[in-house]
Amino acid sequence: MTFAVGEKLALLGGTKAIHDPLPTFSQSAGRTFGPEEEALLLSALRSGCLSRNGGTLVKRLEAEFAAALGTRYAAACSHGSAAVHLAVAALDPEPGDEFIVPPITDLGSIVPVLWQNCVPVFADVDRRTMTLDPADAARRITPRTRAIIAVHLAGQPCDMGGLRALAERRRLVLIEDCAQAYWAEYQGQRVGTIGDMACFSLQQSKHITSGEGGLLATSNAEYAGRAELFADKAWPRHPPVLGSSRFLFLAQNYRMTELQAAVALGQLPKVAAVVERRRERAQQLSRLIAGIPGVQPPHVPEGTRPSYWLYMLHVAGRAAEFGEALAAEGVPCWPRYIVDPLYRSPIFAERKTYGTSGFPFSQWPGQDFHPGLCPNAEAALSGVIAIHWNENYTASQVEQIASAIAKVADHYRSGNA
Ligand SMILES: Cc1ncc(COP(=O)(O)O)c(C=O)c1O
Repeated sequence: MTFAVGEKLALLGGTKAIHDPLPTFSQSAGRTFGPEEEALLLSALRSGCLSRNGGTLVKRLEAEFAAALGTRYAAACSHGSAAVHLAVAALDPEPGDEFIVPPITDLGSIVPVLWQNCVPVFADVDRRTMTLDPADAARRITPRTRAIIAVHLAGQPCDMGGLRALAERRRLVLIEDCAQAYWAEYQGQRVGTIGDMACFSLQQSKHITSGEGGLLATSNAEYAGRAELFADKAWPRHPPVLGSSRFLFLAQNYRMTELQAAVALGQLPKVAAVVERRRERAQQLSRLIAGIPGVQPPHVPEGTRPSYWLYMLHVAGRAAEFGEALAAEGVPCWPRYIVDPLYRSPIFAERKTYGTSGFPFSQWPGQDFHPGLCPNAEAALSGVIAIHWNENYTASQVEQIASAIAKVADHYRSGNA
């Protein structure tokens, strides 16, 4: 195909490269809801019970999700962040225990560590995949380290060989955050089945959704049992326990509703096809933009099969201006993804945690959250544009996205920056 290069940018008043708006995850055109979800929702309503305690659908979702993923157990909950909290709490950590985390992710990967009075310790990422670098993670381990939270960013699997080996060598628990990586594969194995526990999100923008929702998956019976209790105030329900034997430990109410489970049950059988379509379209775009100077498709290490929640376009340090121009062409995207590594947010940099205490960082100092803490993460963010990806993009729409990228790249290459 030929690209519409040399044309005036839409940002400067030219014609948009995208002819009609692309489907987005906030509209039905960009989602996969159908009669299956409608029937299940109706059955939930007609049952009269919308709570998991008394209902059947949340339990069915847990069983079907575990079977589909390939783990022995799954525990449903209210959000992906709650699923990460279940994983952290399943370890029953001591206050001050450390969890190694990446600085490029959603806050939901990290904040549950603070909710459990533990300390997130940032390790740097591989600059090309923006996922945890096992060598840097190893350098951040201390005697208080309990676990590593590996985030498969944008659907790209982490270096799970390196992380698994590190976790085994240092006797750490390996938690996979798969919120952005449904059905991605590492060396032929589905992510979420490689570590000790895996967390998924059913929030609106994810591969499959129930608006909000989360799932923790594991094959470890002890973790599964504790996670299930933690999501329900640590109140044993089967058989139901009353009196002074209730509330076994400090826990949350993160219960998923039957309505959420109804939609998620309709979505689950669709996830494999959703991922396949996202892959095909992403590979098409990578082929189309391969020869364009100044831009690079996402780096896909050998042996990994990403599931493309986002399409990470690399533009050599000019992400903010390039991304703004691309968005004006009609390509939905986040220039620089989250803009800054998470440790630059006030929650960390200004220790805005519990009142004015700065807890837990005040009690367990040792990390400063200044620029330079994770240089690869900082450099990577300045050169990446996160293009929103969607299973319902057509081949022609992907050609238009490629054309938009070529047009913007040509503009800046021609010295118009
Ligand atoms: C990698 C990652 N982890 C955790 C979460 C938290 O999920 P939720 O928004 O459902 O709480 C998200 C959601 O955006 C995410 O992308």
